Amino acid sequence: MATIYKRNAQQVYKRPIYTLFLPWLVVALVIAGLITLINSFVAVIWLRVAVYLIWSLVVIMIGLGSYSIYQGIRSAGSIRRYRVQQRSAKDITRNLLATMTLNRQQDSPHVTVPSVTVVDRTPSHLTVKIEKLAGMYDLDRLAEDVSGSFRGRLAEYAVTSSRITTNGNEFVLTLEDVGSDRTWRPATLEEMKQPTHVLRLQKDLTINLADSPHLIFYGKSGSGKSTSLISVLMQALMWAGSQIYIADPKREFSALSDFYPLDRLAVEADEVIAMLNRVCDIVRDRQIVVSNGVKKRQQMGLRAYDLGLPPVIVMIDEVSALMASMDSKQKKEFLGLLTQIVMKGRSVSCFLILGNQSALAEKGITTDIRGQIATKIVLGKVGGSGEEYRMAFGEVATKGSVERFRGYYLTDGLEQPLLYAVTDLHFHKLNDLKTIKRAFEIGQKG
Ligand SMILES: Nc1ncnc2c1ncn2[C@@H]1O[C@H](COP(=O)(O)OP(=O)(O)OP(=O)(O)O)[C@@H](O)[C@H]1O
Ligand SMILES: [Mg+2]
Repeated sequence: MATIYKRNAQQVYKRPIYTLFLPWLVVALVIAGLITLINSFVAVIWLRVAVYLIWSLVVIMIGLGSYSIYQGIRSAGSIRRYRVQQRSAKDITRNLLATMTLNRQQDSPHVTVPSVTVVDRTPSHLTVKIEKLAGMYDLDRLAEDVSGSFRGRLAEYAVTSSRITTNGNEFVLTLEDVGSDRTWRPATLEEMKQPTHVLRLQKDLTINLADSPHLIFYGKSGSGKSTSLISVLMQALMWAGSQIYIADPKREFSALSDFYPLDRLAVEADEVIAMLNRVCDIVRDRQIVVSNGVKKRQQMGLRAYDLGLPPVIVMIDEVSALMASMDSKQKKEFLGLLTQIVMKGRSVSCFLILGNQSALAEKGITTDIRGQIATKIVLGKVGGSGEEYRMAFGEVATKGSVERFRGYYLTDGLEQPLLYAVTDLHFHKLNDLKTIKRAFEIGQKG
């Protein structure tokens, strides 16, 4: 709720004292003390009642105050986080006042200040919600002022994405530590090994496909899609018993055929369609296994993951390049098969991992399919109209200037996209065929 601030004699805007809790508590305590003192000299019945009432009031006030702090700490998760949130909200409010983001007349003695709440998810990010008052509309300016509010340990945090909620009542800004590099540079293949269904995407980011099914990378040529996919491929190959079906229209993986099962590699459109048909057969078989499991265990919502079935992955780099080589009948069949996998995948542990140059629907993946993919990553500069980012993430303004091999990701449980860095396999020379072969062998041994 907005608060009115008043200008004091030093020309500084302050919250009027009567809107604060603590002064009221002090006043109540002083009165209670005085009445108790008087009552010890004058024994009058109504004074005794007054003593009883005023102390009850003090107890209620302390109770309410403590409860609100307790609630704050509980929702923040720890006392430290609670203090960061309170302090940050104060700093932001002060900065908004100082930088005149607020719509006020310079000589007005009063100014309406929006409520500011901060949710601390550091080191990952901070979320700042600012009430939108009439006349406040410049999101860029606001982002700048909020970024400038942080000092000390949070000094490197800056706004990376922002939006106005659909009801138009609130600004939501995400801040991240833009000073630190989150690029994951695994040193050995063993370091890349993850529990089954888990993929590491950067230093501080893993996803579990069982909970967040399907993954897509969007990005222009040279942005790092294939490198990201190879990192994900090597991790998935190492899961015990996993089956990775690779559609490879650009023949980037064709050298895999020296050791890789040929029924899991497809280049031509009709081969890809035949391969996807086989995956859909697995989907159907697994649906039966899962439903038998449900009957046996009498447990609804059971998934292949809960039954310990290994993941089945369909990996397609360059979906639109592949579709460009299809006639309209093939396209229809292809999209139908992808839709089946994407819709039923979660419960049977069959997942899509895709790469595509564009997020626009006419360039391949339909809106239906895109809507089922839990983790979306857009690589490269926001650029131009930002249409690619809008298609992937909705109406969120992401900060435009990302470097090469950087971008943004959005996954289940996140309100707004966060910065993403392509895994660097070059640094320790892990991006060669020999290493991929070793990853495959590790997974086959189980
Ligand atoms: N983190 C990184 N650091 C340094 N170089 C990288 C990094 N990621 C990728 N590269 C290099 O950048 C080049 C382009 O990367 P990649 O092939 O992954 O892009 P792409 O998006 O798949 O491009 P295309 O659409 O042309 O296939 C490659 O030569 C790759 O070796
Ligand atoms: Mg590529």
